[in-house]
Amino acid sequence: MSFTVAIDGPAAAGKGTISRGVAAHFGFAHLDTGLLYRVVGAKMLEGTDPVEAARTLTAQDLERDGLRTAAAGQAASKVAVNAQVREALVDFQRAFARRSGGAVLDGRDIGTVICPGAEVKLFVTASAEVRAMRRFRELVAAGEDVSPEDILADVRARDDRDMHRAAAPLKPAEDAVTLDTSDMDIDTALATAIEVIEARKPARV
Ligand code: CDP
Repeated sequence: MSFTVAIDGPAAAGKGTISRGVAAHFGFAHLDTGLLYRVVGAKMLEGTDPVEAARTLTAQDLERDGLRTAAAGQAASKVAVNAQVREALVDFQRAFARRSGGAVLDGRDIGTVICPGAEVKLFVTASAEVRAMRRFRELVAAGEDVSPEDILADVRARDDRDMHRAAAPLKPAEDAVTLDTSDMDIDTALATAIEVIEARKPARV
């Protein structure tokens, strides 16, 4: 039986960590849908047409190196405004969501466009300053040479692009539960997400 958890929110709000934690806790499969856009963005930087890259994307592409860099993130948010790119990625995401045994998908439009019928929808957010500081620490730990100011500017630019685009703008679904993690540590945020899901999950998935 299928059971879909949709987790949306802006960059560096904690979606990834919460989604991985939820998937591990319940034994669900997890898809970080940002990776799809990062693959398309990375291929665009190499000269491939983004729509073509989206149409020919395979699960293997998600294993590419360099998808987590700031450059791939910026390129992802640029190709993500393209309605044809988004359309080409819909089937892949829906097929993943309906697999049996439960699935967690995290992204920007999972609860609103990809899986409007998801059994659980969470909107994970935090202030831009808190998110920028988290992202800065992650990138420094990964060996990137970045400044906190640049990262805050990047977070704001991406928020702006994600929230104001015509195709599937970032916003909470009407029936989403919002989780503001600005003043929460990750354990508390994960425990809260698990509680929300537990309350809606049937005994067997
Ligand atoms: O990890 P972070 O939240 O910074 O980024 P991501 O989730 O990997 O997504 C990178 C970019 O892809 C975002 O800025 C969005 O523009 C785009 N994206 C999207 O439009 N729809 C999704 N479902 C996932 C990502």
